Amino acid sequence: EKDILEQLPLRGKRVLITAGPTYEAIDPVRFIGNHSSGKMGFEIAKAASKLGAQVILVTGPTHQKLADNFVTVKPVVSAEDMYTEVHKHFNTSDIAILSAAVADYRPKNVATQKIKKKETTFTIELEKTKDILKSLGEIKKDQFLVGFALETNNELEHAKGKLKSKNLDLIVLNSLQDKGAGFGVSTNKVTFITSSNSIIENELKSKTEVAEDLMQLILKQTHA
Ligand code: CTP
Ligand code: CA
Repeated sequence: EKDILEQLPLRGKRVLITAGPTYEAIDPVRFIGNHSSGKMGFEIAKAASKLGAQVILVTGPTHQKLADNFVTVKPVVSAEDMYTEVHKHFNTSDIAILSAAVADYRPKNVATQKIKKKETTFTIELEKTKDILKSLGEIKKDQFLVGFALETNNELEHAKGKLKSKNLDLIVLNSLQDKGAGFGVSTNKVTFITSSNSIIENELKSKTEVAEDLMQLILKQTHA
C-alpha cells in the first residue's frame, strides 16, 4: 500500500486557479458575458485538492458547487475584479492554472442609469481588459504557470504562440472543432503543450479526467 504522503504529492503546495466567465457591465442591469460554465476550473480545483494542495479558486459567475475544505473560493464578477484577486495570491502560489474565459473587451463607459431604447441601431464602444495570464508571466519567479487556449483554426500554432508570448510552462489547447468539446458540456478534447515543446494529444474525455491528467502532468513537470 502506498504511503499516505506519496498519495498527497501536493501537500503544503498552494495552487491558484481561475474559472468561469467574466461579466462586463453595460449599465446597472446589463452585461457582456460568455457561455463558460466554470466546470473545467472547478474540476481542476478538485483534482489539485485531492492531491493535497491548498487551493484558491477565483471564479466568475457560475452555477458550480464545491464542498471541499481545502479549496477557498473567491467569487468575482469582472475581468478587472479577477485581475485584482489573482494578484493578491500569485506571490504565495506554487502553481497557477488560468482556465477562466475572461472577456477580452469591456464597455468603455458604464452607464449609471438603465439605458433607454431610442434609435434602430445602437453602438457600445469597447476597450481591452487586462490580460491576467500575461501579467503573471511577466512577474513570475518559481511559479509553474499554466494557461488555456481556445482555438478554432491553426490551433497548434496559435496555442504555441500564446505559450511563448505569455511566458507559460504549459498550455492546454481546447478544441472547439469536435462535437462534445468545450462550452456547456462535460467533455473536452485537449492537447497539452509544454515549454520544451512536448505535444500530448488526448482523446475526448470527461472534464474530471482532463483535470486529473493535467494535474499528473504538472506533477511530472515540477518533479513534485
Ligand atoms: N486570459 C486572461 N486574461 C484575459 C484574457 C485571457 O487571463 N484578459 C487567459 C485565459 O484564462 C487563458 C489564456 O489567457 O488561460 C488564453 O485565453 P484565450 O482567450 O484563448 O486567448 P487570448 O490571449 O485572449 O487571445 P484571443 O482570444 O485573441 O485568441
Ligand atoms: Ca480571449
